[in-house]
Amino acid sequence: MIIFLIGFRGSGKSTIGKRLADWLQSPWIDSDDEVERRAGCAIAEIFATQGEEAFRDLERQVIEELLAARRTDREMVVISLGGGAVLDERTRRLISEQGRCVWLRASPEVLAARTVGDASRPPLTQLTRDEEIRELLARREPVYAECADCEIDTTTLPPDQAVERIADWLAGADKN
Ligand code: S3P
Repeated sequence: MIIFLIGFRGSGKSTIGKRLADWLQSPWIDSDDEVERRAGCAIAEIFATQGEEAFRDLERQVIEELLAARRTDREMVVISLGGGAVLDERTRRLISEQGRCVWLRASPEVLAARTVGDASRPPLTQLTRDEEIRELLARREPVYAECADCEIDTTTLPPDQAVERIADWLAGADKN
């Protein structure tokens, strides 16, 4: 089974994904890492030299290939997706067909505080960082909600407790 972690930049997808995978004794995959590996350069560089659209194309392709490779695999794997990955309709369909999806959410203030000064995350708009977070959250939250089977608010929740909640939810979901 694949456990997908989705949510905005700074929501905890990588930290929590890694710890969840450790707890489940499963592999952990980060789609951003895979994109960088494939491109041979950092995401900020892809944005700077080829633009966001090229990044989105590569991201879609990498996710499709990751999932195609696991189609017959029954082992558990945790995949943390980039914050904008679910904007792609086909990616959303693959998520709902192939796994369970956890949406990590947090307040705009906390998302801003967790990502302030992080040059590895290129701007996605011409807005200030705070305005961008609010604007994109307003657009994306309905999409995250549509994909999510489980929602965890990480605004004040430490990562280990988030992992416990996801594990409890998975154990409950297994009984259904
Ligand atoms: C993006 C989020 C980033 C990365 C890229 C675009 C987005 O991933 O995929 O910079 O559109 O929100 P994280 O959410 O892991 O930072």
